Amino acid sequence: MTEATPDYRMSDGARDGAGAALVRAVDRTCEDVAERGFAVTPRFVSRRLVAALAGELRRRAAAGAFRPAGIGRGANRVERNDIRGDRISWLDAHALSAPERSLWNALEGLRSALNARMFLGLFSLEAHYAVYPPGAFYARHLDRFRDDGARVLSWVLYLNEHWSPDDGGALRIHVGESDAHDVRPEGGTLACFIADRFEHEVLPAKRERLSIAGWFRRRGPW
Ligand code: OGA
Ligand code: MN
Repeated sequence: MTEATPDYRMSDGARDGAGAALVRAVDRTCEDVAERGFAVTPRFVSRRLVAALAGELRRRAAAGAFRPAGIGRGANRVERNDIRGDRISWLDAHALSAPERSLWNALEGLRSALNARMFLGLFSLEAHYAVYPPGAFYARHLDRFRDDGARVLSWVLYLNEHWSPDDGGALRIHVGESDAHDVRPEGGTLACFIADRFEHEVLPAKRERLSIAGWFRRRGPW
């Protein structure tokens, strides 16, 4: 059986256009991270790719691939939905679907741009899908584990269509003592920030909230 060409695959001409848009999005993201430690980039990837990734997420959810997210690692891991109410499913870097591969390639572009500009030594990528059911949230936290300095840069790509400010569910990035930057989780927007510099939280949403969250890692020792 021949597989139908997924519609996010584009003709070469269209791909060149998308390539130029991606280069601009990567440059802008890199610039903002270098200047203030975090970036919020709308339309980091195309709407078609966002729709294809949301489709992947739905397929996984239907297949029962999501588990409650935990806090901490190994023997310290606990499930606490008073702290974190999302359900997650990890991507497997060795078994990426076509849309996941497209996203991976885009993020690899960002990784090498950040390394060239900031000498961060970013080495590898890990990522999971996340679903926050209505009312779920993630309390204020830092992304780095106490015993592991590998996560250098955190990023989140949102997969929601037509997210209105009334839907809630903002990512609130705490900047300094008393300032905060709220990010609306609209499909295609990429938020990223230096992992050990910004406490952040996910405010409760009125509707289901979909994303892929991930980290660029460096090699130890730290
Ligand atoms: C996380 C996280 C933010 C978001 O998964 O660690 O902070 O906006 N996610 O989903
Ligand atoms: Mn986080």
